[in-house]
Amino acid sequence: MTYSFLSSTAPFFVVFLYLGSCHVSDGAQQATYIVHMAKSQMPSSFDHHSLWYDSSLRSVSESAEMIYTYNNAIHGFATRLTPEEADSLMTQPGVISVRTEQRHELHTTRTPLFLGLDVHNGGLFPETSTSSNLVIGVLDTGIWPESKSFSDEGYGPIPSTWKGECEAGTNFTASLCNRKLVGARFFAGGYEARVGPVNESMESRSPRDDEGHGTHTASTAAGSVVEGANLLGFANGTARGIAYHARVAVYKVCWQPGCFSSDMLAGIDKAIEDNVNILSISLSGITTYYTDDIAIGAFAAMERGIFVSCSAGNFGPSPFSVTNIAPWITTVGAGTIDRDFPALAILGNGKNYTGVSLFKGDDELPAKLLPFIYAGNASNDAIGYLCFPGTLIPEKVKGKIVMCDTGGVAPAIIGEVVKGAGGLGMILANLAGKGEEVQAEAHFLPATAVGEKAGDIIRRYVLTDPNPTASIVIQGTVVNVQPSPLVAGFSSRGPNLITPNILKPDLIAPGVNILAAWTGALGPTGLASDTRRVEFNIISGTSMSCPHVSGLAALLKSVHPEWSPAAIRSALMTTAYNTYKDGKRIMDIATGKPSTPFEHGAGHVSPTTAVNPGLIYDLTTADYLDFLCALNYNSSRIRVVSRGNYTCDSSKNYSVADLNYPSFAVNVDGSDTYKYTRTVTNVGGAGSYSVKVTSETTAVKISVQPTVLNFKEVNEKKSYSVTFTVDSSKPSGSNSFGSIEWSDGKHVVASPVAISWT
Ligand SMILES: *[C@@H]1O[C@H](CO)[C@@H](O)[C@H](O)[C@H]1NC(C)=O
Ligand SMILES: *[C@@H]1O[C@H](CO)[C@@H](O)[C@H](O)[C@H]1NC(C)=O
Ligand SMILES: *[C@@H]1O[C@H](CO)[C@@H](O)[C@H](O)[C@H]1NC(C)=O
Ligand SMILES: *[C@@H]1O[C@H](CO)[C@@H](O)[C@H](O)[C@H]1NC(C)=O
Ligand SMILES: *[C@@H]1O[C@H](CO)[C@@H](O)[C@H](O)[C@H]1NC(C)=O
Ligand SMILES: *[C@@H]1O[C@H](CO)[C@@H](O)[C@H](O)[C@H]1NC(C)=O
Ligand SMILES: *[C@@H]1O[C@H](CO)[C@@H](O)[C@H](O)[C@H]1NC(C)=O
Ligand SMILES: *[C@@H]1O[C@H](CO)[C@@H](O)[C@H](O)[C@H]1NC(C)=O
Repeated sequence: MTYSFLSSTAPFFVVFLYLGSCHVSDGAQQATYIVHMAKSQMPSSFDHHSLWYDSSLRSVSESAEMIYTYNNAIHGFATRLTPEEADSLMTQPGVISVRTEQRHELHTTRTPLFLGLDVHNGGLFPETSTSSNLVIGVLDTGIWPESKSFSDEGYGPIPSTWKGECEAGTNFTASLCNRKLVGARFFAGGYEARVGPVNESMESRSPRDDEGHGTHTASTAAGSVVEGANLLGFANGTARGIAYHARVAVYKVCWQPGCFSSDMLAGIDKAIEDNVNILSISLSGITTYYTDDIAIGAFAAMERGIFVSCSAGNFGPSPFSVTNIAPWITTVGAGTIDRDFPALAILGNGKNYTGVSLFKGDDELPAKLLPFIYAGNASNDAIGYLCFPGTLIPEKVKGKIVMCDTGGVAPAIIGEVVKGAGGLGMILANLAGKGEEVQAEAHFLPATAVGEKAGDIIRRYVLTDPNPTASIVIQGTVVNVQPSPLVAGFSSRGPNLITPNILKPDLIAPGVNILAAWTGALGPTGLASDTRRVEFNIISGTSMSCPHVSGLAALLKSVHPEWSPAAIRSALMTTAYNTYKDGKRIMDIATGKPSTPFEHGAGHVSPTTAVNPGLIYDLTTADYLDFLCALNYNSSRIRVVSRGNYTCDSSKNYSVADLNYPSFAVNVDGSDTYKYTRTVTNVGGAGSYSVKVTSETTAVKISVQPTVLNFKEVNEKKSYSVTFTVDSSKPSGSNSFGSIEWSDGKHVVASPVAISWT
């Protein structure tokens, strides 16, 4: 199992191909294990828990290296052992769990304006000592500190509560941190134990970002204001992070082969100790709470009041594809914004079709129609239409526009193949079933990417016209594109595979064609052959939407410092919107139909209303422990997640339906009625809230008791119950949706409802 980048332009895919197997040391079948210890059981003969951990390890192996000792995210350590040694360690006193490490992958301006955060409403989120004292920790590929997005001009002293450090290493000195980039650490222990020493001529053994992803996510969350930011002229404007007053701390945990969970856990462990306020994690999680180091580390962070925002995954449009689904994590899907980069494919028959492109270069096409050929007719390969490297026949494509289909290699590589074979331009089309989602790419030659519908028509033309010709016109940047947002096809969707009675993702935020800072070590396509260097790059993924929410959490925390992570998430969710201004539901690119809460959760974030949500659904650590009891976790599993010695009360009736979540998911599994309870806390003025319930189908009846909640003062709590009466005979796989909204006339506190039949 690997954690991966959640950006769709994931250059590391290229590298993954070469890393099929892991390095094995000493010939023994060793693996990296994460060992959870019951810290409270330390015998009094030890002065320090690290000595106890070491002694426990020595009792099974004389030579095993202690890769990390963890103090915050978990109590325990990481080491390399044989399976026999691991089994033996499990029987030692005080050892709760011995788990094998996983490898994870990264999931791979205009957005502040699109979110309604223009300079004119600075009054909503004023710069205060709180806003500039918040630190957003970013777990990713590191940072390019020279980027203007991390300039500290105009920033005050580093907050006194900050305990982080700037660690030196390859091409990185401690003096590269400043009052904006307040911390930079790297975690290579797990990587090196497994793969061997970092090859410092290939990647920096330091916080330096040789990849781009970490620089992009960090600047999206909290980058400084940079005027005239653009990629090759596209998306030109003022770039700034969502919480641009806040500070950035980076924890480099991802390397060329991926992100090893012992390193990720070490990053979270340090981030907690360093006193970050927000953690932004654009990496794929896995879907059990007690084996997923992101979920486990996030629990400890949540307990310290740290808001943890994670990407939902780029595994859409399949259902059940959402990751990072622990209820103490805010899970962020991706939508488009109102900006596009159109590029016309013009055909010899006079028709033209709009695709997208970020091509900019000297080798522009002559202003006339050129011969046009389908790659499947110009290849030495049976699947030549996919334009794999080495398959195009130069004599057939030279001087022509070439049509390739997506699905083989990365779009930028396809462009390289066409250019290498002498093609002058490229039309890249989605094949059947790939839909209308297209990737804007900084191609090496004039190119446009079109969706399935236009692709089918263009393919028919090039295959049937006796003398096909075409041209490509790159149109640049357009804004105010409507409708927007659209749910991205790649954005991972519910239902929630592990706990179907908790709705995930929680919400969506901008994640398509996002402009943000980039590494100086790689070109915009991320390919080693791309010698261009850019200060900003445009990429897509839930990796990009996650840091938007991290930044928004910092904005809300600056106005409401006392709010818990759950309160912040509640405010973002209950004020999110899921219709356009004309009242029509937000559309899903993948289906071309209105999206549902399984795609958009509570909807698209709306920061200007989130700041004043009226009511919030709060949650404490105790509530999450009750949730684990409701999942029938025994005490050792609970301890793995929470580190605490917590025993569920066998006389208590725990139910997932009672977790005070700001959304409702009901998994129909035989019964006709399902009862949920919720408690809202008043964070507005006195007021009387009435409920409005909608249900999309007659197969579900929703009734709320009581229907009016009166609040006299701030922080007053009121509870209500919801009964869902369903037609349990509907076929498995059916879904139905609705909403529960409380309003006092000034605030609307909306929760989505998603019912699924299993
Ligand atoms: C490090 O990478 C360089 C460039 O690919 C290679 O020439 C060198 O042999 C590598 N060093 C080690 C120790 O693998
Ligand atoms: C470190 O910087 C030097 C000089 O800029 C460069 O040649 C080298 O490739 C860099 N190493 C890495 C791993 O980025
Ligand atoms: C970007 O916009 C600024 C003005 O806002 C302008 O001065 C600059 O030339 C533009 N750059 C590009 C590459 O279009
Ligand atoms: C594209 O087609 C439309 C009609 O479908 C036409 O009005 C327009 O002029 C065409 N544009 C170009 C650049 O050929
Ligand atoms: C092009 O390939 C298609 C199948 O992909 C085939 O039907 C057609 O005859 C070919 N055309 C030429 C001119 O080779
Ligand atoms: C908890 O459950 C796990 C998995 O079923 C089991 O291995 C472990 O022994 C149990 N622990 C306790 C304390 O019951
Ligand atoms: C957990 O706490 C109970 C009482 O609170 C105690 O009896 C028990 O020994 C503790 N267990 C562990 C594993 O620390
Ligand atoms: C526990 O909750 C379930 C589901 O709400 C209910 O059916 C059951 O009667 C409850 N049991 C007790 C002992 O309260």
